[in-house]
Amino acid sequence: MTLPNFRLDQQTALVTGAASGIGRGIALGLAAAGANVACFDLPETPLGEVCDEIMNAGQRAIAVPGDVMDGDILSDAVRDAESELGPLTLAVNSAGIANAAPAEEMPLSQWQRVIEINVTGVFLSCQAEGRAMLERGRGAIVNIASMSGSIVNRGLLQAHYNASKAAVVHLSRSLAMEWAHRGIRVNSISPGYTATPMNLRPEVAEQVVKFEADTPLGRMATVDELVGPAIFLLSDAASFCTGVDLLVDGGFTCW
Ligand SMILES: NC(=O)c1ccc[n+]([C@@H]2O[C@H](COP(=O)([O-])OP(=O)(O)OC[C@H]3O[C@@H](n4cnc5c(N)ncnc54)[C@H](O)[C@@H]3O)[C@@H](O)[C@H]2O)c1
Repeated sequence: MTLPNFRLDQQTALVTGAASGIGRGIALGLAAAGANVACFDLPETPLGEVCDEIMNAGQRAIAVPGDVMDGDILSDAVRDAESELGPLTLAVNSAGIANAAPAEEMPLSQWQRVIEINVTGVFLSCQAEGRAMLERGRGAIVNIASMSGSIVNRGLLQAHYNASKAAVVHLSRSLAMEWAHRGIRVNSISPGYTATPMNLRPEVAEQVVKFEADTPLGRMATVDELVGPAIFLLSDAASFCTGVDLLVDGGFTCW
């Protein structure tokens, strides 16, 4: 048999949360696999560096600043990606936030902000991306959920975050079923503890040693270790995968 095709040549990708952490790493990875990339992140978060790095590697890139809570901005970003880079066939939705508070003390505004960015933001991103992909009957979307959507992280008081990530997993499955017969695959990746700025938050600083001890592989993931799974799920090598949640957690959820 011939080797499955893991390449993404000539395709256009949109990546949300592309300025930092997992989104940034995946944006660079998709470019290394041959895609041109529209990099979406908050306007106050510089996207020039990741775009330069993609262009230096020989692919095209544009910055599309905006907030995932704004569906019109996301539609504009898709339009700009298509006019500058070509028809959108790939998307990775990595924008997200985390924080912590005891459930009984959590202000409603804190709950709502995490749900709005992590759940509604992923829905609006998929909606804008899906509308463009459905017109041509071709596309693949990966949403970045978390193992916190399947397990509860011992010692972390983040009921809102855990609930938001469970919602991302089931949202992804739901969209996968709505769009399966229309040429669009939707999957999620659930990372375990990953060495990104999110894990430099003051409230988790003391816990990182414990995170590593609790992970069967004995360490956090590097951002680069999320790239292969994302390329796989977006590529033709995963042509029969839709509605999958791929846990990339160093074995954490086995224990
Ligand atoms: N780091 C981990 O251990 C870990 C584990 C599991 C899942 N995740 C998930 O991976 C994703 C990326 O996390 P990360 O660790 O790379 O975090 P990060 O903070 O390094 O990157 C997140 C990016 O999302 C952007 N963003 C936040 N709110 C936004 C909004 N409203 N609109 C547009 N962009 C916005 C931020 O500006 C930032 O660039 C998140 O969804 C997170 O929940 C992270």
